[in-house]
Amino acid sequence: MIQAFIFDLDGVLVDTAKYHYLAWRRLAQSLGFDFTEEDNERLKGVSRMQSLDILLSIGNIQADEKTRHAYAEQKNQWYVEYISRMGRDEILPEADRFVREARESGLKTAIASASKNTPLILERLGIADLFDAVIDGRITSRAKPDPEVFLLAAQSFGSEPVACVVFEDAAAGIQAARRAGMYCVGIGSPQQLSQADIVIRTFRGLSPRQILLQLEDIRTN
Ligand code: G6P
Ligand code: MG
Repeated sequence: MIQAFIFDLDGVLVDTAKYHYLAWRRLAQSLGFDFTEEDNERLKGVSRMQSLDILLSIGNIQADEKTRHAYAEQKNQWYVEYISRMGRDEILPEADRFVREARESGLKTAIASASKNTPLILERLGIADLFDAVIDGRITSRAKPDPEVFLLAAQSFGSEPVACVVFEDAAAGIQAARRAGMYCVGIGSPQQLSQADIVIRTFRGLSPRQILLQLEDIRTN
C-alpha cells in the first residue's frame, strides 16, 4: 500500500535550473571563462559545493577552501536575487494540482531537496502548505545519490520506504530513491532516466491514481 509521495523540488515542481545556470555562468565569466547550458546539465541535482567543483574544473581553476566558499557564497547571492523575483506562474504545469490531489486522496506529501533555498522557493510559489514535511539541504548531511534525504522524509511521517514514491528529474536523485528502497517516478526523458520505475514528461493531465495503478502493475508483474 502506497502511503506517501515525496517530491524533489528543482526540476520537478519548479524550473529553477535556468536561474542556477545564470548565476553559475556569471561566476564563471567573472573568473574569465564561459559556462554553457550543456555544462549546466551536469549540475542538476548536485549539491552547491560539488557544483562549484565541477565548474572550477571546467575553467581549470584551482582554489583553496576559503576561496571556494567565497565563490559559492557569491553564486548563491546572485541566485537568490533571481529566485526572489519568481512567482506562481513558474510552478511547472499542473504540478501543484497533482500534489493537492494526492493529498486529498489521503497520501502524505513531502519535499526532499538538496537546496538550502527551499523555504524561499516554496514561499515565492505559495505552495508551502501542500506538504506534510519539508526535508532540505539545511537538514541533511549527505547529498544524493545518498538516500538520506528520502529516508528522513519517510521517517517524518512514519512510513516504510516501500510505501513511498519519489518524484525526481535527476539521475543522482533516482539512484538515491532506489538506494532508499522506494519506488521512483522520473520526470523528463526516458533515455536519461532509465533507472526509474516509470518516466513521465510532465504532470499535465496526470492523476495520482494513474501513478498508483501503474505501480500496482509493476508490483504484480
Ligand atoms: C538542487 C538543484 C541543484 C543545486 C542544489 C543545491 O539539487 O538541482 O542544481 O545545486 O539543489 O541548491 P542550493 O539552492 O542550496 O544552492
Ligand atoms: Mg531536481
